[in-house]
Amino acid sequence: MCGIVGYTGHEQAAPILLDGLSKLEYRGYDSAGLAIEGKENIEVVKAKGRLRVLEEMTDNGNALSGTCGIGHTRWATHGVPSVVNAHPHCNKKKTIAVVHNGIIENYQSLKEHLIKKGYEFESETDTEVIAHLLDRYYEGEPLEAITKVMVRLNGSYALGILFEDHPGKVFAVRKDSPMIVGSAPEGNFIASDVPAILKYTRTVYFVNNMEIVCMEADNISFYNLDKEQIEKESTTIAWDAEAAEKGGYEHFMLKEIYEQPKAVQDTLSPRIKDGQIVLEELGMTEEEIKKLRRIYMIGCGSAYHVCISARYVLEKLTKIPVEVDLASEFRYRDPILEENSLVIVISQSGETADSIAALKEAKRKGVRVLGIVNVVGSSIAREADSVLYTWAGPEISVATTKAYSTQLAACYLIGIYFAKIRQNISDELYEKLVEELTKLPEKIQRVLGDKERIQWFANKFAASKDIFFIGRGLDYGTSMEGSLKLKEISYIHSEAYAAGELKHGTISLIEKGILVVGVATQPELYEKMISNMVEVKSRGAFLMGLTTYGNYSMEDTANFTVYVPKTESYFTTSLAVIPLQLFAYYVAIARGLDVDKPRNLAKSVTVE
Ligand code: G6P
Repeated sequence: MCGIVGYTGHEQAAPILLDGLSKLEYRGYDSAGLAIEGKENIEVVKAKGRLRVLEEMTDNGNALSGTCGIGHTRWATHGVPSVVNAHPHCNKKKTIAVVHNGIIENYQSLKEHLIKKGYEFESETDTEVIAHLLDRYYEGEPLEAITKVMVRLNGSYALGILFEDHPGKVFAVRKDSPMIVGSAPEGNFIASDVPAILKYTRTVYFVNNMEIVCMEADNISFYNLDKEQIEKESTTIAWDAEAAEKGGYEHFMLKEIYEQPKAVQDTLSPRIKDGQIVLEELGMTEEEIKKLRRIYMIGCGSAYHVCISARYVLEKLTKIPVEVDLASEFRYRDPILEENSLVIVISQSGETADSIAALKEAKRKGVRVLGIVNVVGSSIAREADSVLYTWAGPEISVATTKAYSTQLAACYLIGIYFAKIRQNISDELYEKLVEELTKLPEKIQRVLGDKERIQWFANKFAASKDIFFIGRGLDYGTSMEGSLKLKEISYIHSEAYAAGELKHGTISLIEKGILVVGVATQPELYEKMISNMVEVKSRGAFLMGLTTYGNYSMEDTANFTVYVPKTESYFTTSLAVIPLQLFAYYVAIARGLDVDKPRNLAKSVTVE
């Protein structure tokens, strides 16, 4: 949902801003723009399309002189992708320039008000009202104008602002949209996300809602809405710049698929000490864990699919009833939350608007919230009562892979940890589960070794119009994620069905030659799955079977079979999802698509 950057320092700004934007393109990529403080005025350059168009127009930024500027990569909400709608937006005199991430909900009424005052609008965006509003209230004092504008805006925003008569200064504010500030000897930065500035610094300040930033080359000041200066502590980010680069892989998605053994290992190992799961991070006493009566698991997209799979694991292990919700539904359904319950919000970015709103809803109702989050210092990480970080490192590809896998791993830890404290499982089973958990990274690595066969098979079905995924229990959760991966990046229509539900309607969609992927890793459901697969096969489907080594009878039914190593049945999603990620990746490649930046999507959805 748009990426913003800003820089002021001792170097030429435009190349730095473009480099930062290239790390944020996952947030939006339909148009981009820069505003640079030149010698006399603010120079604005905008382009429709991918960032490379803007790079070409500006000779990679070298054509724009000036050491202070702001930049934007857009994911259109208000108005089509076009040069006019691209950011930065300016006042008429072009003395104020603004980049914006978020949505101004009351922009229509503000626009009408401004038009009555004689302001003219060029674009269809909500952002342009901010530029004109700043103009209206600006009398030479940026903080004064910014705070007056802030109290008039409803909705979400992270803003980067330049005032021509304050050369060398970048102003920034945020409300419900992400924004960080980075500090380095060569200058200071603002950005929507950490990877944009990692090349220059790992010293970061997290900006809170309704705080204002004023940056100069060698100084950063923070203010509250009353224009009082506030002190902030910096944080050192553990990620390194290399982790946010492709490192020889053709796409971030493939690199991230291959990083899964390490990401899962990094998420598990700090929490397993001498064969014991240690989760002090949850901040819950044994008494509180024993008293738990219900768990609510909430997420969007793939994080929601983690919730679906985790429900099977957590309910079985802890005997605590688990409810799963899409964050966008939870936030508006006025949920009845039981006393002594726990809400778990799962999010890679920690900035997904619906997930943040769900978290707030839970807190408003007095229920404890645990965040499972990848981005340190993100909104969900800060607003939850406690946070269990997934240590996946920066995930750049829009389609998530390694973050998904680490979220699953985090849920296994919680499940086993709670089960032990609540005495739901024997010591033997506990030991067995912990031991098996430690073997997961190596087993994921083994699955990755099978990539050539999956690549071959993906090429064969790359021209498909529809592909179905079926599974029962945990395998249904895995199917949902496999199907989402495929549709996100290959644009092939795909659906996941609980295999037992097929005969209640969906089976009418099965035609000769349609690919159906049957996921069957659960021993107790294996035979049932085979029956469901036979049902679709006899209606002409082409069957891919996905099961564990040993289940060789799958080959009697499936036309093509993929095996994953055996593990405790609780953990099979972690292995079975890997071939499905690879399948989606290779189908998209065979179709010649931009895997890392699929159309219409954005990685971090900071709007409703
Ligand atoms: C977007 C992405 C999905 C992601 C979802 C939730 O829709 O395209 O891949 O699963 O947001 O993101 P989060 O950062 O909250 O995990």
